[in-house]
Order: sequence, then structure tokens, then C-alpha cells
Amino acid sequence: MVLLAMTGRTEGWIAEPYGSDVSRIIQFAEIDWEQWISILLFNQAKRQQRTSSPLYSLFRALYHLMAVSTGYRMLSQWVSVNPGGDTLDKLVIEGGRPLSGSIRIHGAKNAALPIMAASLLADGEITLHNVPHLLDIEVMLYILERLGCTCRHEQGTVTINTSLVRSHDVPEDLMKQMRSSIFLMGPLLARFGRVSVYQPGGCAIGERKIDLHLRGLEALGAQIEEQDQQIICHGANLTGADIHLDFPSVGATENIMMAAVLAEGTTTIFNAAREPEIQDLQHFLNAMGARIMGAGTDTITINGVEKLQPCTYEIIPDRIVAGTVMIAAAATRGNVTLTHCNPAHLTSLIHVLKRTGVQITVCNDIMTVSCMTRPKSVDRIVTSPYPSFPTDLQSQIMVLLSLADGFSVMKETVFEGRFKHVDELNVMGADISVDLNAAFIRGVPRLYGATVEATDLRAGAALVIAGLAAQGKTIVEQVHHIDRGYDQIEKLFQSLGASVERQSTVSKQLDFAN
Ligand code: UD1
Repeated sequence: MVLLAMTGRTEGWIAEPYGSDVSRIIQFAEIDWEQWISILLFNQAKRQQRTSSPLYSLFRALYHLMAVSTGYRMLSQWVSVNPGGDTLDKLVIEGGRPLSGSIRIHGAKNAALPIMAASLLADGEITLHNVPHLLDIEVMLYILERLGCTCRHEQGTVTINTSLVRSHDVPEDLMKQMRSSIFLMGPLLARFGRVSVYQPGGCAIGERKIDLHLRGLEALGAQIEEQDQQIICHGANLTGADIHLDFPSVGATENIMMAAVLAEGTTTIFNAAREPEIQDLQHFLNAMGARIMGAGTDTITINGVEKLQPCTYEIIPDRIVAGTVMIAAAATRGNVTLTHCNPAHLTSLIHVLKRTGVQITVCNDIMTVSCMTRPKSVDRIVTSPYPSFPTDLQSQIMVLLSLADGFSVMKETVFEGRFKHVDELNVMGADISVDLNAAFIRGVPRLYGATVEATDLRAGAALVIAGLAAQGKTIVEQVHHIDRGYDQIEKLFQSLGASVERQSTVSKQLDFAN
């Protein structure tokens, strides 16, 4: 670490030696000596945590004190170093064991991220419960701290103090790392009348434009200037407007809601996205004093208010994590109970799983999924905005269809680049061909273990399911993609009886796509 400090690098990713062969990737920007001390304290805390030492709490408390006073936050992943230093963690899976047992579903990343950004709308301390421990969440906290907030994340509870926000400019390096930093536009513009961000650019799953976000903000009266990759928005006096979205974009709906909440007058968003995460954002904003109606339908009405107050709020369960576990239970012919989930958010998946012959019972926030026989194929599944089949479960359900008896067709209509897992599944013995946005899946009796690579978050989750169901050993590489959306996926499946081990190796650049 000292050597790295001496190199004078001020930005980028580094792998910090830890023990004999383990390393931690941290991102550092403008690190000064106080921040290096906080790195050391963090490192010590982690070391003590591994040996369950009582010193853990001491080092952690000191780290927090130091990190808060210097505005520094660790973006850390525990990974192991290989001598080449150019690959990331791997999961080693011994497949073929039916999953069995009970699992608690963690809070939703896609609800937590916009809600954390929306915290900027109030002046004071916001407390959020059921926030998952994921890399994306840490990145958002890091960005909030760079803007001047003081943040803490402990045991699923996040506190964000927004009283000392001193910057409205989201730095390019952070914007490029996580697309979700686009959520900061609406709240910063609404509260401070100015924001600058950078084009998030395309990513592994598609082009992912932000034109609908920008047009929505312009309709509220913001002036938008684009200089190279930077987007600067001014708008001290936003005014309510009728906004028609060409496509029910989740992010654009959320950004417009957050910008309109402090605008003068009424904003109506037509053709709004209807995802449960949008309802969660409405509930959170209303808990802060906003006056929003209609989230969950395609028309959302926002009556502007003068000011919002800090509040305490609990994030909804993650429907995509729940769906992933349900599909894994079915693909391994297991029997799994999910607790703390919301079955009402999963009706399209439940419908498809029942068509394959999977048994599902629902009781309040508990669901049991079991599958004793070979699943049946489904002639056609089309991904589209909620409440239709979610694009974020497309790759996972394809694993089940690969093992089904018969021929299935999967059409992807939301993202154009979302079939990257197909080649990897074929390496494992699946029989899938792709033509434009349709995948044609001929079910095979079994998959076989292989070394495969996660190309994005959900594709990675699909490969883990494939490995759990396959005969033999599967190695899933590039696990950092999966860590963005699943809190220690290996522990999750271990608790259901699977044989999954993380082999830590190292790292380079992380890509935060969705
Ligand atoms: C969110 C989710 C992501 C999910 C997706 C669709 C988060 C953090 N991510 O992403 O997990 O897969 O919804 O359910 O909540 N589009 C435009 N112009 C825009 C905005 C979007 O053309 O201004 C297009 C995109 O390129 C894409 C489609 O609309 O093809 C859907 O995107 P959108 O609903 O905005 O997804 P995200 O909010 O990025």
C-alpha cells in the first residue's frame, strides 16, 4: 500500500495485498494521508472479523470515525490475487444437488438505489432499513459522500445525512462506473437548481440511452447543455408539466418523479413505468412529505411541495433475487421456502413456472417452490415492462427451459444485448440458438459442468443456476458482476445445501451496468 501511495496515483482501482494471497480492490480518488489511515483501519477490521476477534468492533468504529471525518468510503470487494493479477473471483460449483431449505430475501437493489439518491431532496438524516450489502449500494454511498453527505451502512440499515451537501457535480469516473448515478440528476436539480453528470454510455446489455430522462427534465423547465460527455442542467424554478414517455423507462420515470416533487404545480407522467420499485419510490417520497399518486399505474401525478423532511423507511424485498432463487430451486429439482418476499411482485414468473410444472405455494410473504420431475417447455415468453415477464429474469429462466422437456422460445424486447449467456450455456451442453432478439431453446436432459464467464449481473446469476443444476464441476468467472446484485451468492446457495465455493483471485476494472 505504501508503494502504491508512493507511485502518486490518484485515481483508479488498486488491489491491496491482504494476508498471503488475498487482496482487496479499492477505488481511490484523491487519497490523502488521513484516508490512507482509514484504509489501514478498515483492513485491520476485516482481518479481525475473519478471526472473530473482539478487536473487530474497535477497528471498525475507528474506521467509521476516520472515514466520516475525511469523507472517504471503501469500495471494497474481497478477492484473491493471482500472480497475473488480471482475473476476478471465481465460483466453483459441484452441481447436481437439489436445493432444499429456507432463505430470507434481502432488500431490492433497484429500489434502494433511487431512494438513496432521493434522500438528497431533504435536509437532514434519512434512515433506510433492509438495504442490501452490495457493491452497487457501496458505490452509491461513496458518490453521496463525494457530494458532501455523511453515510453509514450497518447490518442492513443505511443513514444518509444530507445537511452538508457541497457539490452538485457527479464526477466522470463515478458516473462511468455505475449507470445508476443518473438517478442523482432529478434530486440535485430539484433541491439545488443545478446538476452536472456525464453520459453513462452503453454497457454489456445494450445501448441504454438517457434521452427520456433529459426530455422529461426539459419539460419541467430545466435548461440542458451538453459539452462533450458532460451534461449540465440548470433549473432554479422547475414547473409542473404533462410528460408523455415514448417508452415506460424505469429510470426516466424515477428521475422525473424526483425532479417534479419540488416543482411548482402539478406534473403528470403518462406511459410511466409500473415496476414495484417505482411504487416504493412514491411511498418513500410521500413519507418525506411529497404528494404523489398513481405509481404502479401508467399515469403518475405529482403535486409539487415546497420542502421535504427526512424520514425513516424500509426498502421492499428484491423480486429479482427471489425469482433467481425460485428458478434455481426448480432447475435443481429442489424444495425451497423463501421468506420476506413479496409474491405479488412475481406473478409473471409464478405463472411461467407453473406452466413448466413447478409447484408453488404462497402464504403472505412466504413462498415454497418445489419441482420433482423434469420441467415442461413453454412455447413463448416475451420480456417487457412490468407486469410482464422481467428482462432481469430472462437469462435465469432460460436455464430452466434448457433443461425442459420440449422446445421453448424466449423473446427479449427491453435490451438488445441480453443473450450473452447463451454461448456459455451451450458450452455446458444446452441447445440454444439466437436470431436477433429471439432465442430458440431445445430442452436437453442435463447440463454438464464447464468453465464459463459471467458477462453481466443477471447472465452471471443464470450461470450459477446452470452450475447448480449441472452434472459435475462448473467454474463461473468474473463473479464481480454477480456481486453487484446478490449479497454473497455463494453463501445464499450454501445455506440451501449447494456446494459452491468462492475462489478469490484478483481484479481490474469493475463495470456497473444495471
Ligand atoms: C432498470 C433496472 C434494470 C432493469 C430495467 C428494465 C435499475 C437500477 N435498473 O434499468 O435492472 O433491467 O430497469 O426493467 O432500476 N431507454 C431509452 N431512453 C431512455 C431510457 C431508457 O431509450 O432515456 C431504453 C433503454 O435503452 C432500454 C429500455 O429503454 O432499452 C429500458 O430501460 P429502462 O426501463 O430505463 O431501464 P433502467 O432504468 O436503465
